[in-house]
Amino acid sequence: MKMGRRISIVSGKGGVGKTTVAANLSVALAKLGEKVLVVDADVAMANLALLFGLQSAPITFQDVLLGEAEIYDAMYEGPYGLTVVPSGLSLQAYRRVNPDKMSEVLRGIENEFDYIFLDAPAGIGDNAMAAMAATKEAIFVVTPDKASIADALKAKLTAERIGVKPYAAILNMVRGFPEEPTEEDVKNILELAVLGSVPEDKEVRRSLLLKKPSPVVVRKPDSPAAKAFMQIASRISGIQPKQEEKKGFLTFIKSLFKKKK
Ligand SMILES: Nc1ncnc2c1ncn2[C@@H]1O[C@H](COP(=O)(O)OP(=O)(O)OP(=O)(O)O)[C@@H](O)[C@H]1O
Ligand SMILES: [Mg+2]
Repeated sequence: MKMGRRISIVSGKGGVGKTTVAANLSVALAKLGEKVLVVDADVAMANLALLFGLQSAPITFQDVLLGEAEIYDAMYEGPYGLTVVPSGLSLQAYRRVNPDKMSEVLRGIENEFDYIFLDAPAGIGDNAMAAMAATKEAIFVVTPDKASIADALKAKLTAERIGVKPYAAILNMVRGFPEEPTEEDVKNILELAVLGSVPEDKEVRRSLLLKKPSPVVVRKPDSPAAKAFMQIASRISGIQPKQEEKKGFLTFIKSLFKKKK
């Protein structure tokens, strides 16, 4: 039996990278060998499916929340054995969804996974609160600007109010300007540990544009953003990534040396 950690990926401000973080962090932890489920809990503006090319999935999380399907029917296989539960794009189905059912559904399967990540809607509205309330912990995604950090503080207070533990923050879309708030600033303002920074990386945006979309951790493991996501996943799990077999010059020399011994 696994000790599933249910973690929502939230933010105050929209567009800061929650869906990107939820997808890539899930893939990164799966790559490290963890059993991971990622759920699109942004039932109004479902985006997660697009990143995994699951936009035509016949059964979605909405069907589960409507009581018309079992959660297992809405599970699809992602990279490295990751399990993905997408939401549908239908506005009609969304209107009938009962977001309060989320918690019940996810509690029922938490022992089957090491991690369950929820891609939440932005802000502190009803849907965002329902997503948070379906988890025990929350990760706050912020970008290095004052508005995003101020809004994250509101989201953090909301989480605390409904009994969800603020676990940590992730600083996304870092450009490296000297004026940018740093990890230290985020830590001090939010009074929260910072798991790491993900740089602004054009490969992240490209993930969605491709004919066969997939998260940057899968597509471009050597890109700066993918490396950052792997580091954050290591930090969360305490698992070090296996040394990739690099056929570099040094490895070549070492292999010759080994053979002679
Ligand atoms: N580190 C990054 N570098 C470059 N682009 C990024 C990065 N992170 C996210 N993006 C891009 O920013 C846009 C918004 O990201 P995303 O959809 O993940 O945000 P969100 O917080 O989920 O938005 P919403 O609040 O609408 O749900 C996307 O086009 C995504 O590709
Ligand atoms: Mg999103």
